[in-house]
Amino acid sequence: MPNRDRVSTVGGRDDAVRHPIFARYYARLAPALDVRAGIGAHRAELLAGLSGRVVEVGAGSGLNFSRYPAGVREVVAVEPEPRLRRVATDAAREAAVPVSVVPGVAEALPAADGEFDAAVVSLVLCSVRDPDRALAELRRVLRPGGELRFYEHIRSEGAAGFLLQRTLDRTVWPRLFGGCHTGRDTVAAIGAAGFVSVSLRRLRVPEGGVPTPVSAHVLGSARRP
Ligand SMILES: C[S@@+](CC[C@H](N)C(=O)[O-])C[C@H]1O[C@@H](n2cnc3c(N)ncnc32)[C@H](O)[C@@H]1O
Repeated sequence: MPNRDRVSTVGGRDDAVRHPIFARYYARLAPALDVRAGIGAHRAELLAGLSGRVVEVGAGSGLNFSRYPAGVREVVAVEPEPRLRRVATDAAREAAVPVSVVPGVAEALPAADGEFDAAVVSLVLCSVRDPDRALAELRRVLRPGGELRFYEHIRSEGAAGFLLQRTLDRTVWPRLFGGCHTGRDTVAAIGAAGFVSVSLRRLRVPEGGVPTPVSAHVLGSARRP
């Protein structure tokens, strides 16, 4: 199957992630999924109680922006995909807290060490090229004691489910869904990156609906030591 989206290199001048077809349908369909699959409620829980300066990585079309609580002083939203970044920039204008949308990739965040009180990723660690490097970067830009909030779909706990995920991840899925991998063990990766006080809840999305290869979700937080 031809991959009509182009994923360019990470690092250097051309560090954009280009998925024009995925970007177009994600921007259109994701708001409906927030309602129909209950993802919007999980976004609200993801962001509840945050305060100070926040970096959101892989912000997509900016669906989290309107849900940041008033205690957040500023959100720096990093988004590498040009089309999604444009949509996010429009969404930022409607947000109740100041949001600036900037280009960049998770594996080389455009931020100084310890700059942020909190970092947010939602449905992103499945798609980055190098999740371990991305988590190391998230840890680097958080202040000591700073909080990582994550909402991700993850590796299935059942053997058959994981076998299906592994097959999809080696074949069509990343090509169809903007580099997404269904079966990443993101919970283990967060621990391996040195985050502590990991607290999480496993979810099925949509709850009670027909399971899909991306039904196993996790919502949680962890801290930089
Ligand atoms: C499924 S979308 C999720 C978007 C948004 N976080 C949300 O919750 O709707 C995956 C996002 O990850 C972004 N992404 C892919 N590779 C990335 C990378 N290396 N660094 C940062 N973001 C990346 C994509 O451009 C896209 O915005």
